Amino acid sequence: MSAPAINVPAEQMMELLEELAAFSAPGPGVSRLLYTPEWLQAQRFLQERMAALGMGVRMDGVGNVYGRFPGSQPAAKVILTGSHIDTVLNGGHYDGAYGIAAAVTALHYLIQNFGQPLRTIEAVAFCEEEGSRFPLAYWGSGNVTGLYDGSEAARCADSAGVTIASAMSGCGLACRPEDRGAAAAAGDAGGGTPLREDIGAFVELHIEQGIVLEQAALDIGIVEAIAGQRRYSVKVAGSTNHAGTTPMGLRRDALAGAAEMLLAMEQAAIAAGDPLVATCGKLEAAPGTPNVIPGEVQFTLDIRHSEAEALEHFCSFILDVFAELAAKRGLTLQVTATLATSPAPMDTGLNRQLEHIARRQGRSFRSMVSGAGHDAQLFSPMCPTAMIFVPSRAGISHSSEEYSSPEELAAGLNLLTAVLYELAYKES
Ligand code: GLV
Ligand code: MN
Ligand code: MN
Repeated sequence: MSAPAINVPAEQMMELLEELAAFSAPGPGVSRLLYTPEWLQAQRFLQERMAALGMGVRMDGVGNVYGRFPGSQPAAKVILTGSHIDTVLNGGHYDGAYGIAAAVTALHYLIQNFGQPLRTIEAVAFCEEEGSRFPLAYWGSGNVTGLYDGSEAARCADSAGVTIASAMSGCGLACRPEDRGAAAAAGDAGGGTPLREDIGAFVELHIEQGIVLEQAALDIGIVEAIAGQRRYSVKVAGSTNHAGTTPMGLRRDALAGAAEMLLAMEQAAIAAGDPLVATCGKLEAAPGTPNVIPGEVQFTLDIRHSEAEALEHFCSFILDVFAELAAKRGLTLQVTATLATSPAPMDTGLNRQLEHIARRQGRSFRSMVSGAGHDAQLFSPMCPTAMIFVPSRAGISHSSEEYSSPEELAAGLNLLTAVLYELAYKES
C-alpha cells in the first residue's frame, strides 16, 4: 500500500491545548499537580472531549485516561500515543499537554479519513510524570508498565503529609497491588488495573524543552535515547541553637553543611562534563527563622546522564563526598533514593520510519538524546517506542514562558499522524 497524503489541520489540537491550559491552580503559568481539583477537572474534560469524538473512553485505577478506536483485528496489540496531563508548578501550556492534544487530533483525523484501523489505536493522558507533588515520578506510565505496583500510594506523601492513597481517594480512585488483573470498571470514576500487557508500540510527541532544534533551525528531533535519572531526598541534621549566643566554632549548622555539599556537587558535575547534569531543585531549612541556627535541612537531588555507568559512578562519588562533609561538620546525613531510571534507547526501526516520513513531508530533522525524562522511557523496554520533538522557543520549558509556534506544533502533529497510520493501518 503506498503512503496516503496526511495533512492534518492543527486547529483542533490548538483549541484543545488552550482548553487544557485553563485547568490550572491560580498563579503564573499552568499548575496542574496530581490529584488536585484542577487535575481532576482536566481529566474529566478530556474524557468528555474524547467521547464526543467517538472514542471509547476510560480512566484506570490511578487516573490515566484513555480514548480508543478499536481495530478490526482485536487480537493485535494496541498502538498507543500520548503524554502526561500533570505539570510542574507554574509550568507552560505545552509540556505533556501537546502530546495529548496531538494524540487526540491525530486519532480523530485517521478515523475520519481512513476509517477503522487494523490495530486498535489509543490516545492516553498519563496522570503524572513530573514528580512535582509527591516524591516519585512517572506515576502514570510507571503503573502501566510495572515500575510501580500501587503499594507506593500508602507510603508516599506530599510536603503537607497527604499520602498518594488519600489524594487518590479524594478523586474517587483506588489502586492496590491486589487490583492487578481486575477488569476496568465503566463510568466516570477510575477503575481497574493500570498495568497493560497489550501495547504493541508507543509514540510520544513532545516539545524539545531545550535549544538544540531552534539553534540548528530544524523542524523535528527524533529521539535516539532518553537520559537515565536518579532522584534522592537528603536530610542533614545538626543542632538548632541561638544565632546570637552560639560562637561560629561551636555550631552544627545543617544549612551551612548542605550549602557546602551542593557547591561540591556543582563543581563535580562541571568537572564530569556534558551530558552529566546534577540539580538541587528544592530545599527546606528548619525551623526557618532569622535568629535560629537551622538544625535540619531537607533537599532533593536530580542527577542525569545518558550512560548508565557514568550515572552510577557520579552518584556514588557525590554521596561519598556528602558523607565526608557531614562527618567533618558533626552532622548526620540520611539519603533516600526516590527514583532510578536507566537510560532508555528508542526503537531504531521506528526511528528509521520517522526519518523516512519526515523526508517525505519535507521536514528538516536530526536525531538527538533527551536530557528530559519522558513517559516513553518506561515503554522502551516493553515495546517498540519512539519520541518526536518540536522546537522550544529559546529552549525554555518548565516555565510560563514555554512556547512553540502553531506551525512547529503542526509539523510534529503531521509526523505523528503519519507514523500512527503506518503502525495501525498497514499490513505488517
Ligand atoms: C520531566 O519533565 C523531567 O525531565 O524532569
Ligand atoms: Mn513532559
Ligand atoms: Mn516536564
